[in-house]
Amino acid sequence: CGIVGYVGHRGAQDVVVEGLRRLEYRGYDSAGIALVADGRLATEKRAGKLANLEKAIADDALPPTTVGMGHTRWATHGAPNDVNAHPHTGATRRVALVHNGIIENFAELRAELEAGDHHLVSETDTEVAAQLLELEVLAGADLTSAMLALVRRLEGAFTLVAVDALDPSRVVAARRNSPLVVGVGEGENFLGSDVAAFIEHTREAMELGQDQVVTITRDSVDVRNFDGTPSDGRRYHVDWDLSAAEKDGHDWFMRKEIFEQPRAVADSLLGRRTAEGHLQLDEMRLSDQELRDVDKIIIIACGTSFYAGLVAKYAIEHWCRIPVEVELASEFRYRDPILDYSTLVVAISQSGETADTLQAIRHARAQKSKVLAICNTNGSTIPRESDAVIYTHAGPEIGVASTKGFLTQLVACYLLALYLAQVKGTRFGDEISQVVRQLEAMPSHIESVLASADDVYALAREHVGTRSVLFLGRHAGYPVALEGALKLKELAYLHAEGFAAGELKHGPIALVEQGLPVLCVVPPAGRDQLRDKMVSGIQEVRARGARTICLVEEGDDAITPYADVVLRLPKVPVLLQPLVAVVPLQLFACELATVMGHDVDQPRNLAKSVTVE
Ligand code: G6P
Repeated sequence: CGIVGYVGHRGAQDVVVEGLRRLEYRGYDSAGIALVADGRLATEKRAGKLANLEKAIADDALPPTTVGMGHTRWATHGAPNDVNAHPHTGATRRVALVHNGIIENFAELRAELEAGDHHLVSETDTEVAAQLLELEVLAGADLTSAMLALVRRLEGAFTLVAVDALDPSRVVAARRNSPLVVGVGEGENFLGSDVAAFIEHTREAMELGQDQVVTITRDSVDVRNFDGTPSDGRRYHVDWDLSAAEKDGHDWFMRKEIFEQPRAVADSLLGRRTAEGHLQLDEMRLSDQELRDVDKIIIIACGTSFYAGLVAKYAIEHWCRIPVEVELASEFRYRDPILDYSTLVVAISQSGETADTLQAIRHARAQKSKVLAICNTNGSTIPRESDAVIYTHAGPEIGVASTKGFLTQLVACYLLALYLAQVKGTRFGDEISQVVRQLEAMPSHIESVLASADDVYALAREHVGTRSVLFLGRHAGYPVALEGALKLKELAYLHAEGFAAGELKHGPIALVEQGLPVLCVVPPAGRDQLRDKMVSGIQEVRARGARTICLVEEGDDAITPYADVVLRLPKVPVLLQPLVAVVPLQLFACELATVMGHDVDQPRNLAKSVTVE
């Protein structure tokens, strides 16, 4: 989501709307604004793009004032409609609040409010926070103290920004694990989810730390830790232009999205574990009994999402002992698939609009199968037409080639597999908790892979002029090889193919000639049988002149004699390895395409969401 806050000497409406326009790439499900004027809140919000909000304001003018805030939403909880749009107000319309992120304990807080006779109008976690904040203010706290009291009660990752109708001097914000920057001006100050919100007005910025509350007035910026002690933000000067600011200083949205993956994975894991250690998938509308009745799973998807499905097969079959087929959505209904009420069809789609996938789920439902969607776009067609949904929390993905969308799909697939194992009783609670903990460690492992991006870039630059690249993998590394090859096709327009390493000797090895780059995803050392077979495959291609580039777990040196280049991966379980192994392949394709002069965000002939069959 995109957030803007302002207090100063300019017309707040113009500053906020302009800021939102600069942030619209962060979400476009709905937009809203709240201004403080003459002791009252003036708010307006609309589903859909910012233009809808602008039209509403043009039809029904808001009062002139110099303090306000706004929001563009990428829906997580609740459908993208007018009511669920931000800002949300307390019951007496004393405070307004906008929010980015996820409040994990919102169900408990909501129940508490309802038990106290507080009526809620929307389905969002934000309204719960707005009501709680207002209760603090009505009890006599100033907005800063009220915010400090509120954040101590919230779990999850969030940025909050609030205004108080009776205090036009300040805008107050809180940050935990979700972005927020202050724009420091002269006689005015700004808040934004990134600097694009305000760099037209000031290039002096302040980054907030984790767990901090900031109060901006016309002439001051006051930063406090959640425990109330004073603190300082880090001041810096922004020298990016607007287009770089939108991309967080990166040259492409895709590169920015690759670097957002630790956050996207962490967000997709939030709120999935109850206090008792049980997994919960809150958008699951299938009963546990219906899930226990499932005796076969068919996963349908296209492109990168299909490869997430291939990884899911390994995880679901291993943890749940349910047979899984993975099928390209475009092939599915034409082969007259065998389906009935005990078949669960899982449709994976980042956009939720892919026509091939949509037609496949319609076919499945017509045969009485239940459909569960894994989707990144709240309110899109595929989740609307499904029986249950697990939303991924990647945020909007703008680069046509999917990156963070893919990683969060993997997370959702693992969660689904573990949930089914819990319901079916094929795994014990402590085993499930152990895997969840391993998943929770993945963001920092992905971070460590990203820290070596420069090595991958240098390698990519050596490959300008290469005509063909092969990718080899085994087990869960096989879909990674396929995805690595797809990325290279999509972005660098190269001939690239992924193979199951064991299949090499049955044909593809004929392609190997002197100098051919072969990227090998080596299984973790704990899986020695798999790993040893992979080593033989690598030896075979190397003996025929291939240049072997091996992605190998830290500390595993068995491969080094046969590797021309070694890229290290952190030690993780084999089933989770795709979450780290695909990252260097994304970086490789992005960098190679960049140096070849291609448009990485919008590769030729491709579309982000393909709504024709
Ligand atoms: C298009 C995109 C791919 C994407 C595929 C499936 O072809 O270019 O990047 O993987 O559609 O999209 P979906 O939104 O259904 O995941």
